[in-house]
Amino acid sequence: MCGIVGYVGTQSALDVVLAGLKRLEYRGYDSAGVAVPADGSLAAARKAGKLVNLEKELLERPLPAGTTGIGHTRWATHGGPTDANAHPHLDQAGRVAVVHNGIIENFAELRAELADRGHRLASETDTEVVSHLLAEEFSGCADLAEAMRLVCRRLEGAFTLVAVHADEPDVVVGARRNSPLVVGVGEGESFLASDVAAFIAHTRTAIELGQDQVVELRPAGVTVTDFAGRPADVRTYHVDWDVSAAEKGGYDYFMLKEIAEQPKAVADTLLGRIDRAGSLSLDEVRIPASVLREVDKVVIVACGTAFHAGLIAKYAIEHWTRMPCEVELASEFRYRDPILDPRTLVVAISQSGETMDTLMALRHAREQGAKVLAICNTNGSTIPRESDAVLYTHAGPEVAVASTKAFLTQLVACYLVALYLGQVRGTKWGDEISAVIHELSDIAQEVERVLATMEPVRELARTLADKNTVLFLGRHVGYPVALEGALKLKELAYMHAEGFAAGELKHGPIALIEEDLPVVVVVPSPRGRSVLHDKIVSNIQEIRARGARTIVIAEEGDEAVLPYADHLIRIPATPTLLQPLVSTVPLQVFACELATARGNEVDQPRNLAKSVTVE
Ligand code: F6R
Repeated sequence: MCGIVGYVGTQSALDVVLAGLKRLEYRGYDSAGVAVPADGSLAAARKAGKLVNLEKELLERPLPAGTTGIGHTRWATHGGPTDANAHPHLDQAGRVAVVHNGIIENFAELRAELADRGHRLASETDTEVVSHLLAEEFSGCADLAEAMRLVCRRLEGAFTLVAVHADEPDVVVGARRNSPLVVGVGEGESFLASDVAAFIAHTRTAIELGQDQVVELRPAGVTVTDFAGRPADVRTYHVDWDVSAAEKGGYDYFMLKEIAEQPKAVADTLLGRIDRAGSLSLDEVRIPASVLREVDKVVIVACGTAFHAGLIAKYAIEHWTRMPCEVELASEFRYRDPILDPRTLVVAISQSGETMDTLMALRHAREQGAKVLAICNTNGSTIPRESDAVLYTHAGPEVAVASTKAFLTQLVACYLVALYLGQVRGTKWGDEISAVIHELSDIAQEVERVLATMEPVRELARTLADKNTVLFLGRHVGYPVALEGALKLKELAYMHAEGFAAGELKHGPIALIEEDLPVVVVVPSPRGRSVLHDKIVSNIQEIRARGARTIVIAEEGDEAVLPYADHLIRIPATPTLLQPLVSTVPLQVFACELATARGNEVDQPRNLAKSVTVE
């Protein structure tokens, strides 16, 4: 949440910062702002609304040129999305500017203290106290990095802070506790950002900042210390995706591009993890097989779409390993005193690797002695860094706020973990598992086939633009798919959408069915678990008899659904447990098209931000 960029070097800082903010706008779009120290003073501009409003403001009232600058794109927490609350926040004398991501929990006390000392604060934000405190400390130590360290020691909560001062025009200082901040190291220039996407056009050499660290950026290089001023160990890494991966590449929206990239994302996530003999090699999961053999329970924690991947993983883990698996919303997990011990394997699933609820859940799990395996898409992010092991998904950067390709790769990673646990523990290791591994290796082509048949789904979505409600039903792994279909529709089309386990219909939800209500039904494979298939066909008949308009997602060759489907969406036949990899795709396309038909912003839905770094 909130995107931050800092630059020091030889280029126009405003150009670099604005281009960086453009790439980070997915993190929040309530307001944007920039600050540039130049000619002995500090110039700043900020505007409510999207970045384009700030760009217009800068055309009308240009800032002086400078080669050092900071910028911010906001997801509002304290104070509404107004010009006054937009970052950067300046001190009273207008000499220091600060941008911030996170929440400063003791800001009310600090604000009262500052007021007692005669400071007048102009915004409702928690951030503004930092600019005033920095100005005070700077006057005592005349070094922005030292002032930042002193201020950070007084702050509680989660924060990334980046500041510039008129008296140190070649310096940008950043600090980090819990919220993300990455340093980019170029030739004679340095960058700071919430995400490498902001500077990937300039350098692919990055440094991940650790917890409670302060970084000072100068054109000649960077210095990292802890909050006490002790030099910190830095880990430099190479960012292995290039700038085109973070661009739309001819698509109208990032979401469309990301949906289309799914076959590649799935194939990349499998690459090198299934050997020729058809067994799994997950050596990168650094938890030794001997430890995994001792595990007696798996607990999955995640949020939103990643939570739905976890729900699907439960079916796979329990079936292939015969071990109990619990799945819990990360935001609920640690507050209910969960039962964990060293034999519990906690799997934390997160695209961004920065979701605060998931991070807090994994910290709690580790404190109880459990081992934590992260499934994550973002190299160098906090969740994998704080886990015992990590299995990276290789979806590439996901920019659209609504998760699509990351979800499919999370599913692949979950299947790999489930199968690997089965393999090392020797449970159910036989023909079924080998067959599944074989099918999994070919699944990217099946996803490709689904994508090639999506035009009727788009046409159908356009006809439903004036509806208020859509329901989604599924059974077994189709139930979490129904939840995911409903979530996509809520966040993109702003429609009332609910996912139900089809078996629950008669226990209440069937009362919602009325004439012409669209109900999407995800039908399990007629092979294998045919009992479930037959039951859901009955459910379709029940809702249709009450007037529902049925939109049925069923395998090729499933003839039983034909008489009851007002609209039929075909998916390739796959083993039951793998079906979500193909059945989710039409639901993503459906939500995206409905959002477009309703005139909504597909990549940046209202009120949302991609990386949720506050609890
Ligand atoms: C929905 C969506 C969110 C995220 C959730 C977790 O489309 O994107 O529900 O899935 O905020 O985010 P990560 O995976 O980054 O932890």
